[in-house]
Amino acid sequence: MAKESQKLANKSIDLIKKRSTINLVIVSIAFVIALASVYFTRIIVEQLKERELGIITLYAKSLEFTVNQNNPDELAFVVQEIMTPNNSIPVIQTNGLGQVISTKNVKVDPALDEEERESFLKDELEEMKLEYEPIEIPFRNENGEVYDYQYIYYKNSLLLSRLEYYPHVQLSVIAIFGIIAYIAFNYSKSAEQNRVWVGLAKETAHQLGTPISSLMAWVEYFKEDETLNNKEIIGELEKDVQRLEMITARFSNIGSVPVLNYENLPECVAGTISYLKRRVSKKVEINLKANPSDIRARINKPLFDWVIENICKNAVDSMGGVGKIDINIKRAIDEKIIIDISDTGKGIQKSKIKDVFLPGYTTKARGWGLGLTLVKRIIEKNHEGKIFVRNTEINEGTTFRILLRS
Ligand SMILES: Nc1ncnc2c1ncn2[C@@H]1O[C@H](COP(=O)(O)OP(=O)(O)OP(=O)(O)O)[C@@H](O)[C@H]1O
Ligand SMILES: [Mg+2]
Repeated sequence: MAKESQKLANKSIDLIKKRSTINLVIVSIAFVIALASVYFTRIIVEQLKERELGIITLYAKSLEFTVNQNNPDELAFVVQEIMTPNNSIPVIQTNGLGQVISTKNVKVDPALDEEERESFLKDELEEMKLEYEPIEIPFRNENGEVYDYQYIYYKNSLLLSRLEYYPHVQLSVIAIFGIIAYIAFNYSKSAEQNRVWVGLAKETAHQLGTPISSLMAWVEYFKEDETLNNKEIIGELEKDVQRLEMITARFSNIGSVPVLNYENLPECVAGTISYLKRRVSKKVEINLKANPSDIRARINKPLFDWVIENICKNAVDSMGGVGKIDINIKRAIDEKIIIDISDTGKGIQKSKIKDVFLPGYTTKARGWGLGLTLVKRIIEKNHEGKIFVRNTEINEGTTFRILLRS
């Protein structure tokens, strides 16, 4: 039986680990696809850039050729066949002094007046200067000597600019969609798990209700009957009934939105300790230190007692029945309350610290690996607190820390 439960627990741990490996694989594949998409678009962009540069160079060369020729036929040919086909790359032509002579594919708002137009073109020119070096067109006299220059400034066509941005926009949209889908999926998964927890707990509390009231009635009956009234047995019976009532209270609280009340923490913990002391070996020493002695926090008592009991039971298990448990309650500077529970047990391997809170993780033959999962749920979900392994050393001991709001 114990072996079976161990097997089951190991299986559930395997499942959790497998799921996180699958997640990792999916994320890695997505990353590779994203990189490949960016890489290939880059290649296309580079090729297109080269092409555009080719067109511009041809454009500049044609201009150079035209201005240095006096043949009107050739001029017409150059304008028709070479310059006009460029209907996408924005170009500004300036003279040697940097003044704009002509533009092509630069969209100027016709509503602008002369001054605004000039300043717009100046800005456009600055932008082009930042993008590419201008192409120089030398002007030559009959002897072939250069006597002036003109410059062709240009920038990427709209198509090229869009193509450069495209993968980034595409990837951002996909990433945002992916994140939203992931959150929604996780939310629905945890909502489903929540429903299972809550439903099971509620049902258990409900089912326990009937036999407990019946037991209570029996105890009353025994008390009244002279022949059956054995004080010792009835006392024990009453304690068992109380214990069952406590279990019902725990289940019914975890199965609903538990009510939090201001309670004196050291007092609550002392109550749990005295209950535990009766049940564990005399060789286990349990000490409580609280400074100040009255530290109040908003807690649900039945659930909080369950937390302390679970952690202490684990501590007792970890030291094989001989050792010391120290519980230290104090107030932190930021108004938080710290509860440290230290034991002198066998400790937790560093690589397993993260696993101890997972459902199904156990190293015990008869364990279910649910104690700490429940503890974490109660502290984080019901009390908006935190719990973690503060410190652990193999064969020296472990300290669990709980942080609560005051
Ligand atoms: N104080 C501790 N010292 C050493 N190991 C610990 C301690 N507390 C927890 N562990 C380890 O974490 C595991 C999970 O603890 P958890 O309380 O969740 O389950 P469990 O005690 O094995 O079973 P159960 O469901 O009955 O509580 C334990 O099996 C143990 O290996
Ligand atoms: Mg346990």
